[in-house]
Amino acid sequence: MTPVQPLLEVRGLTKRYLGLTAVDDLSYALETGSVVGLIGPNGSGKSTSIDCMSGFQAADRGQWFLDGRELTGLAPHRIARAGLTRTFQTVRAYDELTLLENLCVAAQENDGVSWMQALLRGKTLRGADAAARARGLELLATVGLANYADAPAAILSYGQRKLLAIAASMMPKPRLVVLDEPVAGVNQTMVRHIEEVIRKLNAEGVTLLIVEHNVDFIMSLCSRVIVLESGSKIADGPPGLIRSDPRVLAAYLGNKRAAELDAGNG
Ligand SMILES: Nc1ncnc2c1ncn2[C@@H]1O[C@H](COP(=O)(O)OP(=O)(O)O)[C@@H](O)[C@H]1O
Ligand SMILES: [Mg+2]
Repeated sequence: MTPVQPLLEVRGLTKRYLGLTAVDDLSYALETGSVVGLIGPNGSGKSTSIDCMSGFQAADRGQWFLDGRELTGLAPHRIARAGLTRTFQTVRAYDELTLLENLCVAAQENDGVSWMQALLRGKTLRGADAAARARGLELLATVGLANYADAPAAILSYGQRKLLAIAASMMPKPRLVVLDEPVAGVNQTMVRHIEEVIRKLNAEGVTLLIVEHNVDFIMSLCSRVIVLESGSKIADGPPGLIRSDPRVLAAYLGNKRAAELDAGNG
C-alpha cells in the first residue's frame, strides 16, 4: 500500500518570545478531508502555532508543507494562494463596507493587494471583478448571510461577524482553513449554526483545523483532537481517548486550580 500524502505536514515548529518558548518543536500532519481540533489551556500556544503556519508570525524553527509544497517563511497572501487560509480570534471587518464588499477586499488581500493599494490604483470595489462578487454571494449563502449582502458590516452581531470571517477565509477556494476560536463568545443557537456551516464546508471538500476553547464543541465536531500544553503536543487522537487521557485531564485540571487560586487571591 502506498502511503497517502497528508494535506498538511508540520515539522518541528518552534516559536520563542524573548525567554518564553510559545511553541516547542510541534509536529503533526492532517489528512485531506478531516476536521481536526486543536485545544489546550490558555496560553498553550494554539494561536501562535497557527500564526506561524499562516505567515503572520515568523517561526524560529520548523517547516510546514501543504500537499507536499513547502510554505515555510512565505507571506500570508502567498500561503493563502497556496491553499491555506485562516480566521482570527478577534474578528475583523470593515464596518462601512457592505458584506459583499468585505469579501471582495478579502479576495484582493489574498492577491497581495492592500485595500489602500487597490484604491490608489483606482480600482473601486464596485468594479471588483465579477468572479469575486459571484464567489462572495455564493459564500454569503453558504454561511446564511445572503440577505445582508448589500448591508454594511456595522449591522452584524458578533456571531454574524464570525460567519463573515469564515466566508472571507473561503474566498480563495482554500484546501485547508484554520479557524481560531470560531464560537468563542457567541450564543448557543449561533454555535449550532456555525457548527452546521463547518460541516457544510467539510462536505464540500475543505479540510479544517479548529482552535477552540469550547471543548464540548470540538469533541462533537472533530474526528481527531490535538492537545497542546506549554507549546508542546501532549495528546493526539479521537475525542473519546482525549477525554480520558490523564495528561490532558491534568493540564486542564491544573489550569482550573490555578484560576481558582487566582480568584481566591483576588
Ligand atoms: N506577541 C507576543 N509577544 C510575547 N509573548 C506572546 C505573544 N503572543 C503570545 N505570547 C505568549 O505566548 C504564549 C502562547 O500564546 P498563544 O499562542 O496566544 O496561546 P493560546 O492561543 O493557546 O491561548 C503565551 O504565554 C503568550 O503570553
Ligand atoms: Mg489563542
